[in-house]
Amino acid sequence: MALLEDLLVTLLFGVEASFTHPGILIPTVESTGDAELKNVVKTTQRSRESRETLGFSERVWKAMTETLLAGNDQLVHNKHHLLPKVWDLVLLARNLLAAKERAQNLAAEEGFDAEVRRLLSICIEKASKPVSPNLDKAAHEKEIQMKGGYKKVMITALQFFNNLMTCNETRKLHVWLHIFGTPSSMHTTGQNNPPPAKNTTKNKAKKSAKPQPSPGSGVGVAFVGGTPVSHHNETAAKCNSLSAGFNAKYYKPGFLTDVPRLLQPDEIEPLLMILQSGIVVFEGSDEAMQSVRCKLMLAQGYGRSLLREVLVFLGAWEVDEDDFCSRVLGQIVEAILLNGLIPYAYECFRDDKDIVTPAQSVLLKLLASVYRPQSNLPQQHLEAWPSGSPTLTGSPLALDSPYGDSPTSAASKDKATALDPPPHIESAIPTFFVNAFRKQVLPPVIKIIQLQGAIRKGKENKEAFELSLWDLDRIYEGIYQFLELLVLFSEDEDAKQVIVTNEKGLVTDLVRLLGEMDKAIPRYVHTKATKAIEPAKKEEKKSEPPKHLVERPFDVRSEEIDNGKEESEGGNDDDDGERELVDPDEFTWPSIKRFIVVIISSLAWGNRDVQDLVRESAGVQVILNQCKIDDDNPFIREHSIMCLRALLQGNPENQKIVEELNAREVVPNEVLDKHGYATFIDPNGRIKLKKTD
Ligand SMILES: *[C@@H]1O[C@H](CO)[C@@H](O)[C@H](O)[C@H]1NC(C)=O
Ligand SMILES: *[C@@H]1O[C@H](CO)[C@@H](O)[C@H](O)[C@H]1NC(C)=O
Ligand SMILES: *[C@@H]1O[C@H](CO)[C@@H](O)[C@H](O)[C@H]1NC(C)=O
Repeated sequence: MALLEDLLVTLLFGVEASFTHPGILIPTVESTGDAELKNVVKTTQRSRESRETLGFSERVWKAMTETLLAGNDQLVHNKHHLLPKVWDLVLLARNLLAAKERAQNLAAEEGFDAEVRRLLSICIEKASKPVSPNLDKAAHEKEIQMKGGYKKVMITALQFFNNLMTCNETRKLHVWLHIFGTPSSMHTTGQNNPPPAKNTTKNKAKKSAKPQPSPGSGVGVAFVGGTPVSHHNETAAKCNSLSAGFNAKYYKPGFLTDVPRLLQPDEIEPLLMILQSGIVVFEGSDEAMQSVRCKLMLAQGYGRSLLREVLVFLGAWEVDEDDFCSRVLGQIVEAILLNGLIPYAYECFRDDKDIVTPAQSVLLKLLASVYRPQSNLPQQHLEAWPSGSPTLTGSPLALDSPYGDSPTSAASKDKATALDPPPHIESAIPTFFVNAFRKQVLPPVIKIIQLQGAIRKGKENKEAFELSLWDLDRIYEGIYQFLELLVLFSEDEDAKQVIVTNEKGLVTDLVRLLGEMDKAIPRYVHTKATKAIEPAKKEEKKSEPPKHLVERPFDVRSEEIDNGKEESEGGNDDDDGERELVDPDEFTWPSIKRFIVVIISSLAWGNRDVQDLVRESAGVQVILNQCKIDDDNPFIREHSIMCLRALLQGNPENQKIVEELNAREVVPNEVLDKHGYATFIDPNGRIKLKKTD
């Protein structure tokens, strides 16, 4: 093994020479050296002993650092052909770090991490550069390939940083300061948290644009004096020693902000793991420090920017909810939530041109996934939870996993804490989001719907509708996520209390939105029209992307309907893809009405105030109107029947209204309890209907 150390140092000397003095080595010697280096990389991939021998050697890290420095100098000057050698160096370093503390410390002491930071910047720059126009095919391909090479090195460098910081709170913090900047401005806020999210629309947008980092300055002092840590005096004590090891070389905060734009879902994992390992609480982590880093990330403009990019990334790639990326980001959002910063984050991601920005929509979606009871998740997802270990399954870099004893593999079991019940919904959260919904979302959406109605009636020209399907897609995504979150709140006993006690205006507003949609948006019934040819169409659908741009699969909770009613609407769970793409002004807002009815049901259940409020805002009639089949809103008829029953229960005035309506128009029998149906509330807080016989 000592031989291995000598061999590696010799090989590194050769590589360095080939960087600093190109052509000095005889080509056959050079290629033999390269092959030998690759062999060492492979050995460290396999053997723990070799990782420790090399990783604990100061001599090795010194030589690696000098070699990488020389390699970086060449890459800066576009010597792209040297990239494979540099990649081998970073792969090797990444592997050695699996030997934990001593290797991590040596890598930092010798300044290897600084060179990797520089390399990351170089990779990001080269990979972001637009492909030159007017190239011939061969040159074009070469350039694409070159950029792909830099991306691969970038990914390995991110893995390196993940491995460098695991299990070392101080170093994690240093990595944070490098990525997000030193918090020089923190001590000026004078509050424990970032400024409250009120009155912020305008100035926040400006603030988040460009922070003013001050390299090196105040790492220790400002940070400890810095308010985000004032509650944790143990943390403060730890932070005191921080400035000592902080290597300000190549300090360039924000340098990772563009990374999400360059990568794909399976490539971005190491970046997400860095964030996860820095802020998510798991067994064995230092809770106070995770909290400090979470606050630090959100307090810094660069931190918010990176978080926004990552959220937008998740939305743009339409990453599956079970996907590693979604789950890790869910944990990150949960950490932000537990630190009381979700409203702040939501406000930060606002901008003037969107009702709900894409980042906000994804944040809402992840928040809902955090609050959703776990029982909805199949067990195996939790078992398959990737450990925090640097093993990248599916990555071209993971030949075989060298990371059995990686510093983070201990965390893998801890991630089973995902089995914990969802966090309690603190009253501030429904209050905040109900207000955001009522103030920021509802008014503009109602305007759009009213205009759609006016166009439909011929009172306005089609041209008056200026939104494109693309715009509508974003707006729809936002309101959809909001309503999904509100459904969750309405099904949670405490959150529901907050709403029916303090935020009753929501009921009136929802009734209003439903009424406007009822007037302006036609119901869609495709079942009968298409039934005869349905099988053929289904076949087709598999090969084609859905034509209905914003239609989306939706979890039809058919088990909710206990009275067998779903037969009347058979096949409506795949109603997308069968319609022509509509003009923007004909957009039908699928599922929205149904969400509203479900929310009103839950809120009105057993609550006289809400029942009365619905009646006073003329909501009984509006809900009665929804007792019809509408394939844009699967099961809305059943939900409306249940909603009416919730409104009538113990409320003579509401019963009277329905009796009166019944004289004039059809009220479904189930509403009036003539056919032995009983309404009940299930353990998940959902209203259901069953036959009583
Ligand atoms: C953690 O990192 C710091 C700063 O880089 C270093 O000084 C310290 O020795 C490391 N701790 C351990 C236990 O290795
Ligand atoms: C919030 O903004 C409103 C109107 O812009 C202003 O009247 C009010 O004083 C502001 N409140 C705070 C706390 O700044
Ligand atoms: C830490 O906090 C506790 C309780 O808030 C306090 O009593 C103690 O004096 C603090 N210690 C230091 C060193 O500030």
